[in-house]
Amino acid sequence: MFFDRIEAAPADPILGLTDAFKKDTHPNKINLGAGVYKNEAGVTPILNCVKSAEKVILDTETSKAYLPINGLPEFGALTRELIFGADHEIVTSGRAVTCHCPGGTGALRIGSDFIHQQNVATTVWISDPTWANHYSIVTNAGLKFERYPYYDRATHGLAFDRMMETLEQANEGDVVLLHACCHNPTGIDPTIEQWEQIADFLARKKLLPFIDFAYQGFGHGIDEDAQGVRIIASRCREMLIASSYSKNLGLYNERVGALTIVCEDAAAAEKILSQLKITVRTSISNPPAHGEKIVTTVLGDKDLRAQWESELTAMRERIREMRVLLTEKLAEFGAGDFSFITEQNGMFSFSGLNKEQVETLKKEHGIYIVGSGRICVACITKENVEPLARAIAAVVKA
Ligand code: LMR
Repeated sequence: MFFDRIEAAPADPILGLTDAFKKDTHPNKINLGAGVYKNEAGVTPILNCVKSAEKVILDTETSKAYLPINGLPEFGALTRELIFGADHEIVTSGRAVTCHCPGGTGALRIGSDFIHQQNVATTVWISDPTWANHYSIVTNAGLKFERYPYYDRATHGLAFDRMMETLEQANEGDVVLLHACCHNPTGIDPTIEQWEQIADFLARKKLLPFIDFAYQGFGHGIDEDAQGVRIIASRCREMLIASSYSKNLGLYNERVGALTIVCEDAAAAEKILSQLKITVRTSISNPPAHGEKIVTTVLGDKDLRAQWESELTAMRERIREMRVLLTEKLAEFGAGDFSFITEQNGMFSFSGLNKEQVETLKKEHGIYIVGSGRICVACITKENVEPLARAIAAVVKA
């Protein structure tokens, strides 16, 4: 027997909730687990700009031949423009390279594999808390990780001083993983001044930034959400960015993400790309085309791009509206002051609920949130906000 010694693994802390939710027979169950946007009707929509792009692709596509190992050149170019802005020196100088990876997760994994395979570094500093998968991705790529504090439970804000004090322990050459915006799970991002301090610090300590950029446009806007990345790029010549189109174009199951590596100059970038292609070739060979073509069609067409921006704005504004509504309802039902929820950015709210309270919400109310107390605000609607707030009030008062 080969497999008899293998034990069953626990369910994934985030995606496993969706499976458990589907099986739950509670009549008024609510799923606020995985980070997936839902509209007011409780549906994860296909954006209109995406539908239009798909029609164009269907009409014009003539072949299903392989894409280049790192994806289409125009996909890479449009991705870099989105991250840095079209006129940015990094974009115009050609000192950054991009490869299409399957989702932001794929970009994080291929980036981590690249760091390991090329002996770039051995240790990655990761925020505590963070997206649960970060730790496993870097570990499975053969890297070690250390944690830096990020969240101050007392103020519901960023534990900036403790974060910087802990990062002082990093050794020259270590990697620091940062969330560009809409920190997952806390929704708390550094201010511009704090980004500047972080960038100065990374440059002084000679640390390599690895930026997880999964939510561009979900915080304050496309350019606003890129400010941290751009500030870091102004101080650090080299960095990696794992970006994702899952959320901002709603392309969750198309798995469209990108790994961008910024290098010292264009000649270095060419060498890096040649090595990066080996990492990709030996893991996924070359990327799937459909989602990549959707992104390229939407971002490359003036009208579709404008339509996308307005659809993205509508998603962002709906989430903000739900933050306010949830806070109001929680106060109304006597749960206390949750106004900090309105200060958080992106899809998630770090509610402060503990593990027992999260369990009670699930068992007694059929409400699913992540064990850390993370609520997906992007799944709240005007219809489910009241039962949700009543249930939270009941568990905090118990
Ligand atoms: C999340 O954090 O819920 C999302 O990024 C989905 C995922 O893959 O975990």
